[in-house]
Amino acid sequence: MSKLKLALHFSLLTFLFFLSSCVGSRVKKTTISQATLMQWEDSITSIIRSMTLEEKVAMLHGKNMFSSAGIPRLGIADLEYADGPFGIREEMVPHGWNSAGLTTDSATFFPTGSALAATWSIDDAYNYGKGMAKEARLRGKDMILGPAINIQRIPTGGRSYEYFSEDPLLAARLAVAYTKGVQENKVAVCLKHYAVNNQELFRGTVDARISQRALHEVYLLPFQQAVEEAGAFGVMAAYNKVNGRWCSENDELENHILRKQWGFRGIVISDWGGTHSTVDAVKAGLNVEMPGQRFLGDALLDSLRSGAVSEEVVDERVRELLRVRFAIPPIPAEKANQQTTSQPEQQHIAYEVAKRSIVLLKNTDHALPINLIKTRRIAVIGALADAHQAQGGVGAGVKALYEITPLEGLKRAIGNDAEITYVPGYPYYQAQQRFQRVSPWHEADTQLMTEAVEAARNADLVIFFAGTGREVETEGSDRQSILLPMGQDEVAAAVAAVNPNMLTVIVSGGAVDLRSIQPLSKALLMSWFNGSEGGNALADVLLGKVSPSGKLPFTLPMRLDDNPAYSLGVYPQQAQQNGDVFVDLVNKKKGEQSAQGPVASYEEDIFVGYRWYESKNISVMYPFGHGLSYASFEYSKLSTSTTRQGDIELQFTLKNTGNCDAEEVVQAYVSRIHSAVQRPQKELKGFARIQLKAGASQTVKMLIPRANLCHWNEKTDGWDYEQGEATLLIGSSSADIKLETTIKL
Ligand code: BGC
Repeated sequence: MSKLKLALHFSLLTFLFFLSSCVGSRVKKTTISQATLMQWEDSITSIIRSMTLEEKVAMLHGKNMFSSAGIPRLGIADLEYADGPFGIREEMVPHGWNSAGLTTDSATFFPTGSALAATWSIDDAYNYGKGMAKEARLRGKDMILGPAINIQRIPTGGRSYEYFSEDPLLAARLAVAYTKGVQENKVAVCLKHYAVNNQELFRGTVDARISQRALHEVYLLPFQQAVEEAGAFGVMAAYNKVNGRWCSENDELENHILRKQWGFRGIVISDWGGTHSTVDAVKAGLNVEMPGQRFLGDALLDSLRSGAVSEEVVDERVRELLRVRFAIPPIPAEKANQQTTSQPEQQHIAYEVAKRSIVLLKNTDHALPINLIKTRRIAVIGALADAHQAQGGVGAGVKALYEITPLEGLKRAIGNDAEITYVPGYPYYQAQQRFQRVSPWHEADTQLMTEAVEAARNADLVIFFAGTGREVETEGSDRQSILLPMGQDEVAAAVAAVNPNMLTVIVSGGAVDLRSIQPLSKALLMSWFNGSEGGNALADVLLGKVSPSGKLPFTLPMRLDDNPAYSLGVYPQQAQQNGDVFVDLVNKKKGEQSAQGPVASYEEDIFVGYRWYESKNISVMYPFGHGLSYASFEYSKLSTSTTRQGDIELQFTLKNTGNCDAEEVVQAYVSRIHSAVQRPQKELKGFARIQLKAGASQTVKMLIPRANLCHWNEKTDGWDYEQGEATLLIGSSSADIKLETTIKL
């Protein structure tokens, strides 16, 4: 094909793309699917025929740190990738990790994964994806390295804050909406990390041994739905092994499940430094080795020439890359980075998400919202009140245009209506050196604690900030504990002893141990790593401008040892060597990645999160799905019917019986009465976020697709639908069930 023809072809594609993305409702129907990628097969065939072996191989590895090559001779642009899931990462020098020093690349910092998940909002997840795509386009990027959608198996997981939930359905629905939001705005997603990347400890060597049932029902579901329903164009192979094979050369995961079972037509790229072979990787379905070309460069050319890899296999990998290249209109280099990445429209999305993510865990005697008529002096205590969370966490760090801290948010919102005194109370944890962590669980700093007690004594109200921070929760290492770091429990106890009028805000992405601080706090909130607008959203909730409506996307356990992997003794594993794959890459060390890693045995099987706690009758601090409101809700009149396809339709009435406008996340669980297969007590099968004015009521209608009621049959290697009776439970959390009825499946 001539250059001119290709150029015309691209402009026609761009035009079609515009047309199709304008049609239909934004979240419910997407015009994008795996079939979208199949429109150019004939052109691609002729392009491949005209390519040299060298040109083909050049496409299959990193050209520089965040791009892979196109075909310059034919005017086919490189693919430009961008971290990360919560904000477009700053521009770096082509072959290193240092900043490129641009002045236009400050992005919006969106709330991190568990915060987005706490909204339980499909619309917000869609807008989030859309916002990310808009900023990616301003920067000339084709593919966002996200969303990060692994299951939060252990609360200590270094990336639990990046991931959505312990529940596969919640994670899946959000992943679908996020993917639609990105891809309908002309950027591709790269779902990561495929698959079973649930711990950072030994992440580069660990072998996750898992049953097929747990794999499909729990760990793969978010990936499957994002591929099948939202037409995800990209997937990133995780660092770890699954059932004995590295993810980047795992024929079962890539060829069999992803491509054959789910019909994926896009590309698989390796995690950075996560490729381990040439022949196996390219045959198993890996399209791009990132970054560099240790395995899919000259070594691949040699393998092709020797016949160890056939040209057909390489052609297939090139074809998949070209499909994605054709589906995403490239942005000419001179159009990228022309204006500041962060724009008001996206900042507004960040605010909306943050506002709905805040979870009110406890509110004794209506301690919240804060009554400014009665409150003259407020002591804000805790270094986390004024800490920035955009940077940190390695790949997921964002060079934010701005970030309103909780303290700034409170000051702006309260103005002269009360006097605010801020004291840090404990030192803010800073890793001294990248990748060299000192344990943050040390005792309180006496000097800072004394100042905190003094401030509390002189105040009408204390707002105590506790939690972790992006230096404590990070890629590359897991937390050793969920205890509050930096002696926070001790400081909180000393503060509450002189001023019991204490509210506590938790700033963290994963679970923390609340046994000590919960009884001391009149009200308790989770406010996450909540993005550029986090401080404004928090202030609006604390002052009652917004009624809190977030719900926990994971269980807050009483103690870490209650977690299934801990209690079964299958985490943490012991190993001789912990060569972290990313650290090795940065330090240009080779070889550690091939070290024999430990086995992570997924013995709890499908009993992850609340599925475990409920089935084992273990009491928890706060259950999955929990979150209070300033309003109150009445649930009534549940009725159900079954469609001809076997989907369950349900409806009930929800009334806001409080005196403020509010939103409620309603949750539908299914509990099997008799089952031939082992099942958890109950499982989330649907949810909806409902907005209600004070005093208003609404008929809530939900549909549970038959497919979501199936279980994985290991004998037939497929989904099975078991008939029988079940209880349908409608609740405001997994433990607060308001309505129930028996249904026939
Ligand atoms: C992370 C990925 C990230 C990549 C590029 C890796 O260390 O695991 O999530 O996209 O680096 O920064």
